[in-house]
Amino acid sequence: MLRSADCGSLRDENAGDQVTLAGWVGRRRDHGGIIFLDLRDRSGAVQVVFNPETDADATRVAEEVRGEWVVQIKGTVNRRPEGSENPAMATGDVEVMVTEITVLNRSLTPPFYIEEDAEADESLRLRYRYLDLRRPPMLRNLTLRHHVVKYIRDFLSDRDFLEIETPILIKSTPEGARDFLVPSRMQPGNFYALPQSPQQMKQLLMVSGIERYFQIARCFRDEDLRADRQLEFTQLDLEMSFVEEDDILDLTEELYIGMIESVTPDKRLRKPFPRITHAEALERYASDKPDIRFGLEMTDVSELASETEFRVFLSTVEGGGQIKGFVVPGQAGFVTGQMKDLDDTAKASGAGGLAHIRYRGTNPVDRLSEDEILQSAGLRMPAEWHRRLADKMGAGPGDMILLMAGRQPRLNVWLSAMRNHVSELLGLPDPDELAFAFVTKFPLFDWNEDARRWDSSHHPFTSPEDGQEGELDGENLGNIKSKAYDLVCNGSELASGSIRIHNRQLQEKIFAILGHSKEEVESRFGPILEAFEYGAPPHGGIAPGIDRLVAILCGSPSIRDVIAFPKTQSGTDLLFEAPTPVHPKQLEELSLRITEKPD
Ligand code: AMO
Repeated sequence: MLRSADCGSLRDENAGDQVTLAGWVGRRRDHGGIIFLDLRDRSGAVQVVFNPETDADATRVAEEVRGEWVVQIKGTVNRRPEGSENPAMATGDVEVMVTEITVLNRSLTPPFYIEEDAEADESLRLRYRYLDLRRPPMLRNLTLRHHVVKYIRDFLSDRDFLEIETPILIKSTPEGARDFLVPSRMQPGNFYALPQSPQQMKQLLMVSGIERYFQIARCFRDEDLRADRQLEFTQLDLEMSFVEEDDILDLTEELYIGMIESVTPDKRLRKPFPRITHAEALERYASDKPDIRFGLEMTDVSELASETEFRVFLSTVEGGGQIKGFVVPGQAGFVTGQMKDLDDTAKASGAGGLAHIRYRGTNPVDRLSEDEILQSAGLRMPAEWHRRLADKMGAGPGDMILLMAGRQPRLNVWLSAMRNHVSELLGLPDPDELAFAFVTKFPLFDWNEDARRWDSSHHPFTSPEDGQEGELDGENLGNIKSKAYDLVCNGSELASGSIRIHNRQLQEKIFAILGHSKEEVESRFGPILEAFEYGAPPHGGIAPGIDRLVAILCGSPSIRDVIAFPKTQSGTDLLFEAPTPVHPKQLEELSLRITEKPD
């Protein structure tokens, strides 16, 4: 070994030890000929000191040394002189008096400081990702990610799960997003696809009798990127046989609670995880991935709103829409600028507008006189109406009510954006709190207005609710619930899964409703349909996204911060500069020709 101790491990009790350390040079200071360097390795940093009076040779070398050079030093651990301790460093009580230094490698001047908070632009950090990852916060993120995955592997192994790898080169079977295709050299004109998830393979493993499968699985989806989406990402993919929905949810909950309490014990974790139906989530939070760290719950006031003479309310309700909103406690005093900000937020989300009613004053609304209400409330309605509205919404004196009018599902999108905005304005979400919830009983189908057809709300392998199979022949497909569930946390979707169909006839009926022809079904889903005829057990599973979970645990706004080598928003790898054109010879081997070249 080139070292006898880790830089970050040295403490008071090491005083007097002779150590050999190796690492990168961080900050350097020169005080009247005495040179102080911070020497850093993965474990942390320690101050090392060169004094020309104790060792002139070593000090001469230290004078040459610059940031990010790799050096090895030998020396003695000393307690720092009283008053010069550095409480900001874990090793701040000690320093190492150097007697020997060897330069192991030099470094160019890095394009940004390798420090806790890099001011550098993200594209520069991605271009020099190997330097960015040297920074302590990035190292902490990758370390946490390792602990998360290790916990998962241990937890599931202890419960008899088998980790099984499934292929990356598979047949194109779109699952919602666009596939990445890989041309075959040996079979010109044919393509593999990269898996959007191992969905069908894990179900086939259940038919094989594996019973409990998991995989830390790479998934590939050619979709537009956002802060919580990458072209390739990682799922904990798992599947179980002979289970019902609650078995999967119980296991997932136990795994998450154990993992979080083990890897991030400082987070405030709400437990148990509430289980709310999809319908209830939409009704109460206007979202299927509600942030339940705070209230601001919704009330439908369509009936009361129909009693007004407010044209927008009336025409919305007549047109089959709703008037829905929430109470902002204690904020009747919002000033004009704040109201404009709310209006702007409503418009930015696509809403036509935002109605507000403010109950100024301190008396309970039900005791306010007609005049007081009329002066305070803003919507010209009798006091008695305001009393009923306040009662229905749970509003009191000093509160503000926000209402929006529109048709679903868009109304909920606007309301949810407003709820999140107001919660941020009021500082309601606690960043150190993790509020998980399972959202269950998703609809089996969603109507796709653009394509004028039914789509699977989760995916086509999802089982309908017991007792609703008969309705698949009816008209009201939108009413059929499914055995699909999501795990959400702080307003993000972290996992999805379902109890699956394991019967060929039912699966074929679903494909037919989704508009797939018999031939298409045979060519795309033939193997799984066939497998269902050879004793497929009842089964179900879930797939938690690892990147999103780790980002939440790290408090990172983007999953890029928890992926060693992520791509930019436009799908570019700035370090290796992928994607790139390929050599014409490679295209020829693959029997491919580029027909259109970008400018
Ligand atoms: P689904 O498509 O909902 O389900 O994905 C499950 C979870 O994977 C994560 N995720 C992503 N993370 C980063 N970047 C992306 N582009 C991305 N897309 C999805 C999310 C999401 O909740 N086979 C089914 C699961 C099942 O039914 O068992 C599936 O893949 O955290």
